[in-house]
Amino acid sequence: METKFSRRDWFKSTAALSAGMIASASLFDQLIAAPMSRAEFNFLSSANGAKIRLGSNENPYGPSAKAREAVVQILSEGNRYPFEAIKELKLVLAAKEGVTPDHIHVGAGSGDLLCQAATAFGIEGGRIASGFPTFPLMMEYARVFNATWDKVDMNEKLEYNYDELASALKNDTKLVFICNPNNPTGTLVDWNKVKSFCEEVSKKVPVYSDEAYLEFLEPSQQISMVELVKKDRNVIVSRTFSKIYGLAGLRIGYLVAKPELINKVAKYGGDFPYSQTAIAAAKASLGDESFMSMVRTKNAAARKVLTDYLDQHKIVYGKSLTNFVFFPAHKDGKTILSKMSERGYIMRIWDYQNKEWCRVSIGTEDEMKGFVKTFAEVIS
Ligand SMILES: Cc1ncc(COP(=O)(O)O)c(C=O)c1O
Repeated sequence: METKFSRRDWFKSTAALSAGMIASASLFDQLIAAPMSRAEFNFLSSANGAKIRLGSNENPYGPSAKAREAVVQILSEGNRYPFEAIKELKLVLAAKEGVTPDHIHVGAGSGDLLCQAATAFGIEGGRIASGFPTFPLMMEYARVFNATWDKVDMNEKLEYNYDELASALKNDTKLVFICNPNNPTGTLVDWNKVKSFCEEVSKKVPVYSDEAYLEFLEPSQQISMVELVKKDRNVIVSRTFSKIYGLAGLRIGYLVAKPELINKVAKYGGDFPYSQTAIAAAKASLGDESFMSMVRTKNAAARKVLTDYLDQHKIVYGKSLTNFVFFPAHKDGKTILSKMSERGYIMRIWDYQNKEWCRVSIGTEDEMKGFVKTFAEVIS
């Protein structure tokens, strides 16, 4: 089933209105649109504030001790605009990525940057192509400007289908969105394949490479498309501090691209969306290998609790290298959402190929043990 509902629709629904949320269709109303499955649309009005958050791919271990300490230290600077701090952060990020600071653009989370890019490339209409299902924010946002989203289904292993995507490009395709590892499927496509796709496609149209989950891979496997930015290709790389670094609530992420593309996107950024705390936490977190390694190890052990359960019940799933797993729902999605929520668990249901799919974020090992026990009861 095609995703038909969005938070926009939900906010317009009676339940949202009676909760005093949004009274009319405003620009905000359109801009916050994020797709929802039919099950989520039907369920939201009865959501009960469940506590175990397995719905947003958050890191249950962050922020790191270094980030917490940096935030406490910077509080005394809370009265000062972070003009210098943002310049310093850009220098640090540029050095890390091996580019100059004018190749870096920082935003209030990578979601902020996806929306800026959606505006930059969607404002004149045209098309944005991507795999499907994938992280939809940019394409949904660009639709506000009447851009069209061309979707190419995953292959049978729930991986981005780069060959099909390359052949789906049209004359008025303005941007191609890729995500490796991909959300919601968690699957990774070999970097050589992705690199040659980017090399070829970016000769005709810019490619936006969302690498939000890159650091969940072992360091030797973390191959970024920044390599192509350094070769001056039309590639924009997006990174976030929300995932492995556990700073989702502080809101900070960045783009790496050639200055011409950075300027095209940054033009649509807010006035000065930076906070001292987010900058300090990001700087303190960067390169904290022992924290990242701890998260990777704990995440893999907790993910195994879920994948062992799925294996035992012969439920197929995307081979996830991230902090979430995607698998078919064996009961109707709304029932799963409400029964899991009554028992304290938040998770997601996606619509794809006329079926409903569960996407479960990985919490702590104990949370995942509780999850599989409860989930088994709910779908029995
Ligand atoms: C693939 C992907 N990109 C971007 C984001 C946005 O994250 P943030 O705005 O917190 O950086 C998310 C969030 O879940 C994501 O999964």
